[in-house]
Amino acid sequence: MINSQQILEKDSLKGFYITTPIYYVNDIPHIGHAYTTVAADILARYKRLKGRKVFFLTGTDEHGQKVEQAAKKHGRHPKEHADLMVNNFKNLWKRLNISNDAFIRTTDEEHKRIVQEIIQLLYDKGEIVKRKYCGMYCTPCERFWTEKDLIDGKCPDCGREVECIEEENYFFLMSKYQNSLIEHIENNPLYILPETRKNEVLGFLKTRPLGDLCISRPKHRLEWGIPLPFDTNYTTYVWFDALVNYYSALKYLSPKDTNWWPPDHHLIGKDILTTHAVYWSTMLMALELPLPQNIFAHGWWTVKGAKMSKSFGNVVNPEEVVQKYGVDVFRYFLFREVSFGLDGDFSEEALLRRLNNDLANDLGNLVNRFLVMCDKYTAGIIKPIWRDDNFTLKIKELIDEIDNESLWDEFKLNLILEKIWEIISHTNNYIAKKEPWKLAKENPVEVPYVLFNVWNAIRLISLFIYPFMPETFSKIWTALGLNSKSADLSMLKWQIEIEDVNTEKIEQLFPRVEIPTKIKENKEEKVDELIGIEDFMKIKLKVGKVIEAERIKGSKKLIKIKVDVGELRQIVAGIGEQYSPEELVGRKIVVLYNLKPAKLMGVESQGMLLAATDENGKISVLTLDREVNTGAGIK
Ligand code: MSP
Repeated sequence: MINSQQILEKDSLKGFYITTPIYYVNDIPHIGHAYTTVAADILARYKRLKGRKVFFLTGTDEHGQKVEQAAKKHGRHPKEHADLMVNNFKNLWKRLNISNDAFIRTTDEEHKRIVQEIIQLLYDKGEIVKRKYCGMYCTPCERFWTEKDLIDGKCPDCGREVECIEEENYFFLMSKYQNSLIEHIENNPLYILPETRKNEVLGFLKTRPLGDLCISRPKHRLEWGIPLPFDTNYTTYVWFDALVNYYSALKYLSPKDTNWWPPDHHLIGKDILTTHAVYWSTMLMALELPLPQNIFAHGWWTVKGAKMSKSFGNVVNPEEVVQKYGVDVFRYFLFREVSFGLDGDFSEEALLRRLNNDLANDLGNLVNRFLVMCDKYTAGIIKPIWRDDNFTLKIKELIDEIDNESLWDEFKLNLILEKIWEIISHTNNYIAKKEPWKLAKENPVEVPYVLFNVWNAIRLISLFIYPFMPETFSKIWTALGLNSKSADLSMLKWQIEIEDVNTEKIEQLFPRVEIPTKIKENKEEKVDELIGIEDFMKIKLKVGKVIEAERIKGSKKLIKIKVDVGELRQIVAGIGEQYSPEELVGRKIVVLYNLKPAKLMGVESQGMLLAATDENGKISVLTLDREVNTGAGIK
């Protein structure tokens, strides 16, 4: 076992350790799986660029009933089935240029042994006991739920029937860690991110007693699992086996010269936040191991607002997108389109707009224009000329903003991309303002200086887009004549050690793709009906201050708020998937005051709050940009 004291002593040598969930081997990987893995890849690549030693782990979760059943259907042994299925993930990660350092499978002999060691250790410490138990079990999700979790008596995750199962099982005494966990989350503001997810976990921990965690299944019900070392009539429950992967991998898959524990980031989707933030955290507390630095739960991708599912036939296959538009377009789109913590809606049209506008027009054109000018005015040669002007000062400022590790550590990936695109647009504007084609005639000695500045800005753009689009980085690096230089920390600043370079013509980086009419036609054309001012005057809008807010039980979407609009009104708003009650309290919002009251899930709503919704389903509640009294009218 790792000794916590040793960990702390070796802390100065700590490597950067990032993980993805281990995916169910039975699933066919889709855009959701790709999302988490590419995000981890982006951070791993950035940290390597910064000179950190990195251990980036992904893998597959291979035990459990579903694999057992699927293998049976195909007449295979579960391991044989897993051996075939695991390639779906391995191949996709290759295709997406994922730079994982290791790939763990829960059927690895070493992993199984370590899971058993840990269970034995916790059992010997009295942290695991045997008990009778009646649980609500959802077979497709392989999870027990408490009565309170169920929505209309059904599984809150998949909406299917659950069955009550009574049997003797082993329990990890998780409940005793409830207060220490609350304390840990409160004392470590970055432990669970984004903030809304942290508030969710805290809300849950502070309002309900935490139960103990059932960690076993009788062998006759779940044969395809790891046997408990002290009672081989039982196997471990999937989550106990799966979560331990983050620890066991270090024992047999990581370089031994570095201390990796604790993990810097466990990157997960919002669906598995409880298992990580609560089960895994308390397991580590019982093992007396330091907790991870951060658990980041991202949002979900939907298609036309609906959950992706095989039965709806709307699952987005990353292979197909990559085949059509290229891997970097796919990687870029995922992180530019939606803020990483929020849900996003995937559409080919949105992807094509990003491709044409951001990649072809902004970035592709910049590189192309530069290469053409360089060829024409300086015979492809760039000479370093270090001099400051407004342009270089602005770019240096932006470099500092982008190369701010906390932006990366908090996964503000679309903000980072926005800032990189600010450099791109400043550089495009610089060219437009300097007009090198005119300078070449009127003041030719200035041309090499302008082109050098553009070259240097593109060099930094390429380095910052490297984590997101590694192939595009390589192409630009070649075009800039930098193939003999490695992309490392020494290059991540405006002024570098460099001699003359020869630029190289390359193929257009991102050819534009016409948006097929089929995709355009899918969009309903809506003609706005015009209204007269007398119609508008019927609407009474008022400024209101949110006094209280709470979720409506059984609904993920609805939040009940009490709002002061001169008098107290109760409003039910469908914003609960993107706002937490805590972040609404105290805000001044816009309320439709003279709306007829209506009941939503049995709760009366006396008005409506105004919010914008964009084509991705992202919601933004209207607020006011300066202080006004509550109850003020809006015209
Ligand atoms: N095996 C468990 C995880 C164990 S980790 C110790 C599991 N596997 S899974 O195959 O279902 O993958 C879950 C992960 O896939 C989610 O956490 C999320 O990262 C990703 N996604 C699956 N569908 C998704 C979307 N539609 N959108 C975004 N990501 C989602 O749970």
